[in-house]
Amino acid sequence: MAKRPILILPDERLRAIAEPIEKIDDGIRQLAADMLETMYDAPGIGLAAPQIGELKRIVVIDVAKEGEEPEPLVMINPEILSYSDEVITTEEGCLSIPELYYDVDRPSEVTVRYTDLDGKDIDLHAKERLAICVQHELDHLDGVLYIDYLSRLKRDRVLKKFQKQARRAG
Ligand code: NI
Repeated sequence: MAKRPILILPDERLRAIAEPIEKIDDGIRQLAADMLETMYDAPGIGLAAPQIGELKRIVVIDVAKEGEEPEPLVMINPEILSYSDEVITTEEGCLSIPELYYDVDRPSEVTVRYTDLDGKDIDLHAKERLAICVQHELDHLDGVLYIDYLSRLKRDRVLKKFQKQARRAG
């Protein structure tokens, strides 16, 4: 396994649409392992492949709390089948937008269909923390970031901050 660098806003690859995965081969298994290692090291509770520059439809998630047994999930070609009517507000952050956290409204439950690393199709009904994480990570596969749900004023403030940092670094 190898830890991979995480792309930071405003990297344009974070805005790309990721491609479906046609075949689960050693390359995909290695990618999943690298993504899990990168996520745990960060540390974070979710990571989507575009965040390490791989424009493929795969995300990894582990919402187990500190001290609990790890519960790694690898979702290949995931799609949300249904959303609850109930909406909850939770504070979100993103490894590609470090050190910032904002409240976002999202449906509190979703049903997600995905393929696991063994090629098995799974329908998972997710609630609360896991449901929010699934929505956040799947958005990454379509180039959507959680700051897109903020007011224009807040979003522009975040974008400016990171554009400035990128200029300073580059
Ligand atoms: Ni994120």
